Amino acid sequence: MKIAILSGNPKKDGLCQSAVNAAIQGAVEAGAKIDEIRLCDYHMGACRVCGDGWGTCLSENYCTYGDDGFNEARERLKNSDAIIMVTPVYWGEVSEALKSFIDRLRRLEFNQSDVLRNKQVLLIASPGGSGNGALTCLEQMDRFCRHTGAIIFDYIVVNRWNRDYKTTAVKAAASAIAKGRKNGDNI
Ligand SMILES: Cc1cc2nc3c(=O)[nH]c(=O)nc-3n(C[C@H](O)[C@H](O)[C@H](O)COP(=O)(O)O)c2cc1C
Repeated sequence: MKIAILSGNPKKDGLCQSAVNAAIQGAVEAGAKIDEIRLCDYHMGACRVCGDGWGTCLSENYCTYGDDGFNEARERLKNSDAIIMVTPVYWGEVSEALKSFIDRLRRLEFNQSDVLRNKQVLLIASPGGSGNGALTCLEQMDRFCRHTGAIIFDYIVVNRWNRDYKTTAVKAAASAIAKGRKNGDNI
């Protein structure tokens, strides 16, 4: 089992990364291989909205501007069996790096969905300041999964005052996916 961590986190430590690390630990201990895709390390651009709203994303299933790292990150995601999406909450949304990537990816998945369809996805939002905005952030990721045919495994919010027991939950959820638990299984 290969699990991709699709991370919108720019930092290498702190609250959000503690959730990433817990996910990695749970998955690896359960025997999975991990690919942590750190989108902020790519510096890729936003969707340029080609043509009248659709470009080669619709007609040829590739992004005209994909050599800015988008193609590579997409390929890494495609090579996974399951996905853990993790982001800090910014303005009640996913980080801009993750937003730009999912904006572009859902276009490619519209006609020929081969990256996310029927894959389990665990959604993790980390609001670090007020703690507000977790639900709108998760809703944004939820909508992306529904547009792309992914199967949402669970939703987890990790904030400053629940970090201890929620990182435990993240680790357990990643472990459950890695061991092959399916949505609808009775425990
Ligand atoms: C531009 C920006 C916007 C943010 N917006 C929110 C927000 O809406 N709600 C919130 O609880 N925290 C917000 N934060 C704090 C981040 O969520 C916090 O940095 C994140 O949880 C990760 O914590 P960490 O930096 O320790 O990893 C924001 C941070 C930044 C940089």
